[in-house]
Amino acid sequence: MTTTDINDVAKLSRLGDIAVLALDSPPVNALSARLRDGIKGGIDQALADKDVRAIVLICRGKTFVAGADITEFGKPRTGTPLPDLVDLIENSPKAVVAAIHGTALGGGLELALACHYRVAVPSAKVGLPEVKLGLIPGSGGTQRLPRLVGVQKALELITSGAQVAAPVAEGLGIVDKVVPEASLEDAAIAFARDLLAAGASHPRVRDRDDKIGPARGKPEIFAEFRKANARAFRGFLAPEYCIRAIEAAVEQPFDDAVKYERSLFLELVAGSQSAAQRHVFFAERQAWKVPDIADDTPTIPVAKVGIIGAGTMGGGIAMNFANAGIPVTIVEMKQDALDRGLGIIRRNYEATAAKGRLKPEDVERRMGLLSGALDLSALADCDLVIEAVFENMDIKKDVFGKLDGIVKQGAILATNTSYLDVDEIAAATARPDHVIGLHFFSPANVMKLLEVVRGEKTAKPVVATAMQIARKIGKIAVLVGVCHGFVGNRMLAQRQREANKLILEGAMPWDVDRVLYDFGMPMGPFAMSDLAGLDIGWSKETTSSSTVREILCEMDRRGQKTGAGFYDYDEKRRASPSPVTEKIILDLAARKGITRRAISDDEILERCIYPMINEGAKILEEGKAIRASDIDIAWINGYGWPVYRGGPMFYGEIVGLDKVLARMKEFEARLGPDFKPAALLEKLVAEGRGFK
Ligand code: NAI
Repeated sequence: MTTTDINDVAKLSRLGDIAVLALDSPPVNALSARLRDGIKGGIDQALADKDVRAIVLICRGKTFVAGADITEFGKPRTGTPLPDLVDLIENSPKAVVAAIHGTALGGGLELALACHYRVAVPSAKVGLPEVKLGLIPGSGGTQRLPRLVGVQKALELITSGAQVAAPVAEGLGIVDKVVPEASLEDAAIAFARDLLAAGASHPRVRDRDDKIGPARGKPEIFAEFRKANARAFRGFLAPEYCIRAIEAAVEQPFDDAVKYERSLFLELVAGSQSAAQRHVFFAERQAWKVPDIADDTPTIPVAKVGIIGAGTMGGGIAMNFANAGIPVTIVEMKQDALDRGLGIIRRNYEATAAKGRLKPEDVERRMGLLSGALDLSALADCDLVIEAVFENMDIKKDVFGKLDGIVKQGAILATNTSYLDVDEIAAATARPDHVIGLHFFSPANVMKLLEVVRGEKTAKPVVATAMQIARKIGKIAVLVGVCHGFVGNRMLAQRQREANKLILEGAMPWDVDRVLYDFGMPMGPFAMSDLAGLDIGWSKETTSSSTVREILCEMDRRGQKTGAGFYDYDEKRRASPSPVTEKIILDLAARKGITRRAISDDEILERCIYPMINEGAKILEEGKAIRASDIDIAWINGYGWPVYRGGPMFYGEIVGLDKVLARMKEFEARLGPDFKPAALLEKLVAEGRGFK
């Protein structure tokens, strides 16, 4: 056997008439310029070697090429372009066999699809996840995959970015042969030798038409797919571009369609959506890192969890732990409240099981991990206790005072408070260093965000444990400091205030909602209030007819649950603008002496969003969030901020912080101190910098 180093990441060996091109670029063999050059050099050399009759392309380390090197995006390209490499391989007169282990993703799969054959070990996975970064595959993926799996499957795989396990990929026609886990290289070489012995041809995927031919001249296939996914794809460019590229694969000659795919890719890679989605990709990874807490900080083993309060939040929080296999004791004040809480959890699981997403035995296993109690003493041996009782400081202090005397030393005492001062709650115990905020979002079993609220005295191992446990229960944690509403709700309050001012000044709730929905939010502030219930925090005793919400509550229009709120609802809970609400607003505006005026959609958007960005800047300046990207992650995962807009802070940068500041100043002059710019915003603009 002879071996040549092509470069530092590619080696070519020859075993008889088979050349093995081995790539070794840890950690994931990403398609960097060096790797692409290494592959090109290796293929060129194997093609020039007259003794070589077939080539095996294989990777060292834990995976096949797991994707593009996304740090190269947005920078000038160097090295062999992937489309050229893919052509070189596909047009090779000698058969090329991809030997896949780990994951072949994105450009990695495009490389493999250009090979004449693909063999893979059973644990391998393949996929084209570009859409998740706001892109489409740009090196033939949208052209070759449909030729192997058919149009419908290709649409599903490429627009979802889903990964497929090798045995399934074999069934779909992506992988030619699944080979034993432990002998990929030998099996791939044997596969190549068999091909040579059989005198097999070197089929090019580009030449195949059997799977795409039947879809030709049938635009309805694509129209139906668009319609079926309209909700999921709303606002995103990339899924639509994937569909167009696949449509081109069916309708246009290969070379034309490949060019078209490339043009769509280049447009997306230069656009703001992909920039936003790539920002989110990195931001999510970064959010876990706490600068002053070393990776080796000891953590507290959490084998048993206690939850106080089986209401809206307590029940959902408990499900997270049961789902992760951790036993939970839930404490309520009365048996009926406990029974109600556990009953709702069971119904939740059963509804999931009815949809086929959970096995009946898993419902029982998870319910079996939950036990109820009426006395805090049942929590004595818990490692983590999460309080989710009423949002009232006196009650919370009372609970924490009692917990301090009951729960074992070394355990973490956490509060799910939305707004209250975690330091004040901690001061009700003799162990404030073991008190922390774990702010879940409703519904707590669904929403990804967990705000981990670090108190003034919270010990580092307690913070480290909270971050670790968040990961374990499948949440995305953002570490925040103590302030009113923490990061998410503090910024939300800005938007709510402006939304409520706008409807008195001239807009209607449905105007505000439409603008924010079209921006990409799942729903506008008034639809959201109707859903949550307008009477949260409202009381009959203290109501004073001074806000639209109060008047609505006084009229028993308390939101969807009463069939009316800001909107009217029909029996199917479909909303329509309400003449009643309109009259309430006009009357209240008149009573307050406000002269209504026409308000543009732009003003609605800027008034709702720029003060949030400004508040985010204050949060940063006060050190209540570690980095701007953490704020983005909170808004994407806790409030449905559209991923393709990257979060409020990233959006501010896309708009231009100078423009945001200028508008804030105009609003301040016209509308008062709600718009006072944050010092940090002024500073960054003066220095010509962004939040990073
Ligand atoms: P809830 O009213 O639905 O549930 C509170 C439960 O705690 C009730 O079942 C009550 O019986 C029980 N409880 C009260 N005092 C107790 C005590 N001393 N011992 C045992 N159980 C007791 O309230 P919800 O909505 O679940 O809120 C709980 C906490 O979570 C509040 O601090 C709230 O601010 C916070 N939160 C609420 C969110 C929401 O969307 N509902 C979102 C995030 C946080």
